[in-house]
Amino acid sequence: MNMQVILKQIGDCILRRCELSDIIPVMEINLRTLPEHYSDYFYESLLEELPEAFIVAEISGKIVGYIMCKIEHGFSNFKKLGFVKKGHVVSIAVIDTHRRKGFGSVLVDEAIKGVKLRQCSELYLEVRCSNTDAVKLYEKLGFSIIQRLKSYYRDGEDAYVMAIDFPS
Ligand code: ACO
Ligand code: ZN
Repeated sequence: MNMQVILKQIGDCILRRCELSDIIPVMEINLRTLPEHYSDYFYESLLEELPEAFIVAEISGKIVGYIMCKIEHGFSNFKKLGFVKKGHVVSIAVIDTHRRKGFGSVLVDEAIKGVKLRQCSELYLEVRCSNTDAVKLYEKLGFSIIQRLKSYYRDGEDAYVMAIDFPS
């Protein structure tokens, strides 16, 4: 039997860790909602590397959102000259008919818990400067804009780097 641990429940929506069999529906949501796409191998490698922060939102057996992250070692976004272990949100999306119900926020919350379980001291991401919905969501959850990356995306748009610190 397949025992799934429910991390959080909001109405009829449950949050749980992603499983291999969820990768196809997750890829479908990504294809429909974001211009940045990845190979199935890449999704599988993120799931293998950091299952604690690869979370799906599910309603009646249907995946309606996901967040996936990886771990990196690099310079801190907060500590001057600090070298840290940090989480990186690679991608998050909620299908458009289920937005503004809080699912995006709880997905980020669970990813934060997941990277903390792996002793990351920060979590960061890149977001299109025009994506005001997402920027607002991240700010609401405690992320700050750290820098602007010129022409970060293939179509030439700039990105904000946003990050949240988990002081010990
Ligand atoms: N207008 C204004 N503010 C918004 C909007 C909106 N349309 N959507 C979200 N927000 C802000 C609000 O502050 C909101 O809080 P509130 O509802 O209390 O006002 C807050 O974000 C949280 O909203 P949620 O309901 O938790 O978020 P949602 O489930 O709608 O998901 C998400 C947000 C994931 C950004 C969704 O809009 C989406 O999938 N967008 C398309 C994909 C995308 O842009 N992903 C992020 C790319 S960056 C990256 O992946 C690292
Ligand atoms: Zn990134």
